Amino acid sequence: MIKGVIFDLDGVIVHTDEMHYQAWKRIADRIGVEFNREINNRLRGVSRMESLNIILESTHAFSDEDKQRLADEKNAIYRQLLSALTQNDVSGAVLQALNELRSRRVKLAIGSSSKNAGFILAQIELTEYFDAISDGNNISRSKPDPEVFLIAAEYLGLAPAECAVVEDACAGIDAARAGGFYSVGIGDASGYDRADMRIGSIAEVLKIV
Ligand code: BG6
Ligand code: MG
Repeated sequence: MIKGVIFDLDGVIVHTDEMHYQAWKRIADRIGVEFNREINNRLRGVSRMESLNIILESTHAFSDEDKQRLADEKNAIYRQLLSALTQNDVSGAVLQALNELRSRRVKLAIGSSSKNAGFILAQIELTEYFDAISDGNNISRSKPDPEVFLIAAEYLGLAPAECAVVEDACAGIDAARAGGFYSVGIGDASGYDRADMRIGSIAEVLKIV
C-alpha cells in the first residue's frame, strides 16, 4: 500500500528543466560545444558537474578548474532565471494533485538532485506542501543511485515499498527501482519501459493511493 509519494522537482513539479536547458545552452554556445534538447534529456536527474561532463564528453580541452568555473557560471545564469519564478509557473494540475494527496493524508516529499531545490520551492511557495525535502545538499551520489529517495523515505518515516516516486528522468526511474520504490514515469520518462507505471498527467498519481 502506498502511504507516501516522493516527487522529483525539476520537470515534475515545475518546468525548471527548461531553465536548466536555457542556461546550459548559453554556456555551450559561448564555448562552441554542440548542445541540443536530445543531449539535454540525458542531463535530467544528474548532478550539475555530471551534466557538464556529459556536455563536454566530445572534448578534453577543459581542465577541472575550467569546469568548475563553467558550472558556477551556469548556476549564476540559472539562478537569475529562477528569480523570475512564481507560483503562477506551477500548473493547476500539479496544485490539484498535491492538494488531493494531502487531503487523503498521503505523506509528500521532494527527492531532487538539485542544490537549488529549497530556493525553487520558496519561489513557487510550495515548501509547506511537503513533509520532507531530500535534495542535492544531502546526498553524495546523484541519480541513478537511490540515495536521494532513500533519505526522503527515511525523513517520511516510511519504507521504500510504501512509497511511490514520480520522475521525468530515466535516471530517476532507475534510482527508484534500485531503491525498491514503486516508480512512476511522467514527461520524458513517460515512455520509459522500466517504469512500473507511465502517466501522461500528474492527476493519474491519485490512482495508486
Ligand atoms: C536535477 C536536474 O533536478 O538537478 C538536473 O534534473 C540538474 O538537470 C540537477 O543538473 C542539479 O541541479 P542544480 O540546481 O544543483 O544545478
Ligand atoms: Mg526531473
